[in-house]
Amino acid sequence: MTLIIAIDGPAASGKGTLCRKLAEHFNLPHLDTGLTFRAVAHALRQDGLPLDEEALAQKAAKEIDLSRLDKSILSAHDIGEAASKVAVMPSVRKALLEAQRAFASQPSGAILDGRDIGTVVCPDADVKLFVTASPEVRAQRRTDEILAKGQEANFDQILQDVKKRDERDMNRSDAPLKPAENAHLLDTSKLDIESAFQQAVSLVEKALAQRSLD
Ligand code: C5P
Repeated sequence: MTLIIAIDGPAASGKGTLCRKLAEHFNLPHLDTGLTFRAVAHALRQDGLPLDEEALAQKAAKEIDLSRLDKSILSAHDIGEAASKVAVMPSVRKALLEAQRAFASQPSGAILDGRDIGTVVCPDADVKLFVTASPEVRAQRRTDEILAKGQEANFDQILQDVKKRDERDMNRSDAPLKPAENAHLLDTSKLDIESAFQQAVSLVEKALAQRSLD
């Protein structure tokens, strides 16, 4: 049985943790598509190339290997900011879309998270969730994560970055961040991860039960 779960939402909304728990629970392969955009930005920076030249960014996007995405390097806060700059380029999105769709078409199905999974990458997903939280809550989470790694973090600066990234992700013309029409909204501002996970599981189970009736 194929099961495709699409999860979208802004930076630090809690969707990453939620996806990992769902992937384990439903035994599905998981792709964090944010890492694919991060990998493009990182590759350009490693080669000393600018982030705003579309032909160079497209070339880097075509060379991304999904099996070699190193989260420990790519999850750095500043790479997220750089990723959102290359993510506005249609040819970069197109190159990554092919790889993302190939991942989603595995026989088991898959769980993918990002900004445009329910709207563009997997519009026919069995279940779509849109995970949000207020900018302040998200900035606090990012700050705590960075502090936990023993690095320095400034809440006000991170809050500004979070808002800037939301603005860029929601207002780009190609595949902007927005809930799919049939997405379930999950606000994690006042919800701990376990409650969010339980709600998500019951939404997926409902969708599966409905599918077996159809
Ligand atoms: O989710 P994450 O913070 O790792 O994503 C980094 C950036 O990549 C986002 O701010 C967004 O600009 C871009 N992105 C995207 N579409 C996706 C996933 C990420 O545009 N499906």
